[in-house]
Amino acid sequence: MALWGGRFTQAADQRFKQLNDSLRFDYRLAEQDIVGSVAWSKALVTVNVLTQDEQQRLEEALMFLLDEVRANPEAIVESDAEDIHSWVEQKLINKVGDLGKKLHTGRSRNDQVATDLKLWCKAQVAELLLSLKNLQQALVATAEANQDAVMPGYTHLQRAQPVTFAHWCMAYVEMLARDESRLRDTLTRLDVSPLGCGALAGTAYPIDREQLAGWLGFASATRNSLDSVSDRDHVMELLSNAAISMVHLSRFAEDLIFFNTGEAGFVELSDRVTSGSSLMPQKKNPDALELIRGKSGRVQGALTGMMMTMKGLPLAYNKDMQEDKEGLFDALETWFDCLNMAALVLDGIKVKRARTQEAAEQGYANATELADYLVAKGIPFREAHHIVGAAVVEAIAQGVALEALPLATLQTFSSVIGDDVYPILSLQSCLDKRDAKGGVSPHQVANAITEAKQRLA
Ligand code: ARG
Repeated sequence: MALWGGRFTQAADQRFKQLNDSLRFDYRLAEQDIVGSVAWSKALVTVNVLTQDEQQRLEEALMFLLDEVRANPEAIVESDAEDIHSWVEQKLINKVGDLGKKLHTGRSRNDQVATDLKLWCKAQVAELLLSLKNLQQALVATAEANQDAVMPGYTHLQRAQPVTFAHWCMAYVEMLARDESRLRDTLTRLDVSPLGCGALAGTAYPIDREQLAGWLGFASATRNSLDSVSDRDHVMELLSNAAISMVHLSRFAEDLIFFNTGEAGFVELSDRVTSGSSLMPQKKNPDALELIRGKSGRVQGALTGMMMTMKGLPLAYNKDMQEDKEGLFDALETWFDCLNMAALVLDGIKVKRARTQEAAEQGYANATELADYLVAKGIPFREAHHIVGAAVVEAIAQGVALEALPLATLQTFSSVIGDDVYPILSLQSCLDKRDAKGGVSPHQVANAITEAKQRLA
């Protein structure tokens, strides 16, 4: 039975009911709806709508229902209730009879759904923070094990300067650390209770909403009832958080997919996160990474969808807002799964050092060193850049590395070049010299690893 039958003489068309009902997805809010209802029943005692004894009976029945729901949440959708709020109320009435009909006094599904969803979001944030931390720890551990794995760093996907695999890992730690801080920041605005705002104008019962917020574990109660029932900023913020972090994960995936190609051959992925081809027996495809990269798209879509749904909605509640849930549920679950999958990929990854070293030695990644060397000998950088460019052209023509050109040849480009140039062109020197904060020197990377470990401990 619908919650609002009194005013209606005709039954809802089945096709309308199909469109209107949200139970098939908002069943996920069952726990929050029950917990919110217990708190509301306590508030009703403070304004003499319920006696202590009535409240107790309601609470017992609700807690019993909570156990049922936890044991088998999927079973909820078998009901033909309109939404999770109707479902909980109907179940309660089935258990305690007419007393159950008192619970909705002074409350609306509008403040109820806003509260339920915020409670659900808070629970998700806690889990997402753990996964973000776990992935950062996996990256730090991979960095620690690969501090001396030299590989080419790229710009424009052209070999640019040597870096280490550890430094690459720590770059993603930074991105995830920002994702984590963004999420914590979102939580501060999310942690405000809308319960007791009624349908839009506030509840007509003199309820202490701050106390009620505290019972539900919120930091405080909202300030404006119209805003409270129509605010979905937290949904948009969480989707933004997910979208940005999924961009990071997608870049991580793309880097590794490239490192894993036969052409690069920098890493080998574990059998546990790759799959074969039905036709080509030799293949081992990086499906886990491709799915992370691919799923990034649907999360961006969920954010855009939600923005479009909210844009132009008049105050206060409109049914459009029921569309907030499916995209959010899907996006946060996808984000969560991809964070965990990224950690699993790292768990079994092997860096092929001989190959990364060889690639770093090729591609003239030490050309900047030669320019810096000339600068140290008094040549202005712009001129030095030019000289080295010409030397690179010569080395390419001979099919050798810069450091393989004999001194006499190098001196045809600049007479200031001496024998002391060769140690400077070594990969180790390229790394060691980049020792300012954030640079790739082994010392800086070790510092970054230590700091990250402390932060994540
Ligand atoms: N199922 C609805 C939603 O998710 C609950 C709120 C319904 N409120 C209303 N006035 N019809 O938004």
